[in-house]
Amino acid sequence: MSLNGFLFRDQFLGSTKCNKVRSEVAKKLSDNSLKPAGIGREKSVNTDIRGDHFCWLEKEGAGPGLRELMSRFEALRKSINRQFYLGLDRYEMQLAHFAAGSGGYKKHLDAFKGNNQRNRRLTAIYYLNLGWKPGDGGELELYLPDLELQLEPVADRLVVFFSEQIEHAVLPNSRNRMALTAWFHAP
Ligand code: OGA
Ligand code: NI
Repeated sequence: MSLNGFLFRDQFLGSTKCNKVRSEVAKKLSDNSLKPAGIGREKSVNTDIRGDHFCWLEKEGAGPGLRELMSRFEALRKSINRQFYLGLDRYEMQLAHFAAGSGGYKKHLDAFKGNNQRNRRLTAIYYLNLGWKPGDGGELELYLPDLELQLEPVADRLVVFFSEQIEHAVLPNSRNRMALTAWFHAP
């Protein structure tokens, strides 16, 4: 991976562990833990920009599948630090659900250079969608310097890129679409 590139890996956890994560996440969904994205101080939710529901995930209360994923993210943090001297020192993790028929998430950056002192540096997204088919939509569109690229959000796939460099979007989806995103921070 380079600053202007990305990395992706399939069978990141393997199907057994991935299924554990999927069932832990399904529980969050069914107990209504997720809130519309974009809700904050404003009362209205603008689904034009971002059509998902989300919740933050902590180690406490996470099941064995999610804990495994978290420890893999921790290993990723260390290996990226060794390669890029980024000093990533923590991450936050979000579960996002785009319901069937959502408009996706318009082109954006996950962080803005120099915007604040503790910024997001690295984005890692782990997908949970079994049996994804062409036409289901919800592809991650990456705007690389010389190339636009679409990646299907298939189960057990990990995609990693630098939050401040790579613009990206989620295309509209006709099937439920679930992903876990970790944002790694550095001072
Ligand atoms: C985000 C995002 C992409 C995806 O949450 O900022 O861009 O593929 N997600 O879920
Ligand atoms: Ni994003």
